[in-house]
Amino acid sequence: MSKIKIFDTTLRDGEQSPGASLDQKEKLQIARQLSTLNIDVMEAGFPITSEGDFKSVSTIAKEIRDVTVCALARAVDKDIDCAAKALKSAKSPRIHVFLATSEIHRKFKLIKAKEEIIKTAVKGVKRARKYVDDVEFSPEDASRTEPDFLVEVVEAVIDAGATTVNIPDTVGYAVPEQYAAIIKNLKDNVKNINDAVISVHCHNDLGLAVANSLAAIKAGATQVECTINGIGERAGNASLEEIVMALKTRKDFFKHTTGIKTKEIIATSKIVSGLTGLRVQRNKAIVGENAFAHESGIHQDGVLKESTTYEIMRPEEVGLPKTNIVLGKLSGRHAFKKRVKALGYYLPDDEFEHTFSQFKLLADKKKEIYDQDIEALIQVEKSEVPNIYELDSLSINCGPVPIASIRLRIGKDKIVSDSAKGDGPIDAIFNAVDLLTGITGTLLDYNIRSVTSGKDALGEASVDVEIEGNTYRGRAVSTDTIEASAKAYLNAINKVAIKHRKKKST
Ligand code: KIV
Ligand code: ZN
Repeated sequence: MSKIKIFDTTLRDGEQSPGASLDQKEKLQIARQLSTLNIDVMEAGFPITSEGDFKSVSTIAKEIRDVTVCALARAVDKDIDCAAKALKSAKSPRIHVFLATSEIHRKFKLIKAKEEIIKTAVKGVKRARKYVDDVEFSPEDASRTEPDFLVEVVEAVIDAGATTVNIPDTVGYAVPEQYAAIIKNLKDNVKNINDAVISVHCHNDLGLAVANSLAAIKAGATQVECTINGIGERAGNASLEEIVMALKTRKDFFKHTTGIKTKEIIATSKIVSGLTGLRVQRNKAIVGENAFAHESGIHQDGVLKESTTYEIMRPEEVGLPKTNIVLGKLSGRHAFKKRVKALGYYLPDDEFEHTFSQFKLLADKKKEIYDQDIEALIQVEKSEVPNIYELDSLSINCGPVPIASIRLRIGKDKIVSDSAKGDGPIDAIFNAVDLLTGITGTLLDYNIRSVTSGKDALGEASVDVEIEGNTYRGRAVSTDTIEASAKAYLNAINKVAIKHRKKKST
């Protein structure tokens, strides 16, 4: 049984998902959880693309010591220098250089001949090797590159010092047999192939990313690039949890292991979906709400008699708690702490105390508190920013023209209040908040969902708001969905208010 390296690119390719953008604090939080999950390599970002990405990579490089931290760069001097700078304090840094090689990209995007492509790739790899010993090269759109030319490119970059060669199916065009044949062709024809790790990187445009990755592993690839929940460009990347659990569950067939602590999968999936705002579809393999639910009576009966009748994996293996123990008003700090831990979360003392106080407030309003309620409180705690504006009270007059009256607390003593009209109650609330804070947001997305069932269920509101050219995400929970909406909007506004305050003080 040989080990397959898990290269996670949630923070880079995953963050390129339409609708997902993460700030530095959120990226660091995901990075910490990825390290707990025990991945081998973490692609932390693409430093040349923005100051924010540069800072995220350097912060992660400084803090995450037990995982190789990787930064992406085009085969361009300034990109490589920037990636090296961002990785300066990493314990185990990797620079990932990429350049497209397919005819379509050469002809229409790069306007470069084959010889020039090889020259640029080699130069990029050599430059990266001046900074670090661990260099990965990706011939972008490899699966649509002429096989002989791909052999030439791969051989040249390994000669130049690439320690990993990654073969991307950039546009999700490949099918398993053909993709496996590409890997086999490289193994058979690249003279120095044993001097580098062969990696695979698949996109999911035809829904084949995981199948292609597994076929490539069968053909000899020993590193696989993937993301949590399969998020990524367009239809996404290969899903980490599906690959890992396929290798684990079917080790009889694949004969490979990974270092992933599979019990951390559910917690990681929840943190990523919570922070990116990209919800996991109910029937998604491994991490979807229905993945281990048995609806049919025959199946339920079978599972009760012997779980392997209808379960090929045990829910506990991926970190699903065995029972959904109900907590309530009388549950104390100890029971709450135990439950948080069992759900796979770690809360530092101050975050724990605040979440516990929110739990107590919720228990006053809601008789039974389920795991989903506790997780919603934790997710909100994790996305909390120091509040400049806090909601003090809110009332709505839902006449023909809805009017929201809002009181906000600023700091300890100051209270401000105002009213505003709107097209509906939510619009009126957001307008009143804009008036009171002097910050105007354009609502891009608004979601409200019930965390559990029942009339007293906790409602979770999330908003994406465009303010001053940037998109900010806000989240909040409450048993009152109107209040949750107001608090979620304020959560986004507070992110901007903090930025304004920081700017003022510098
Ligand atoms: O899909 C792709 O080709 C990429 C490369 C940058 C590796 O993400
Ligand atoms: Zn990609």
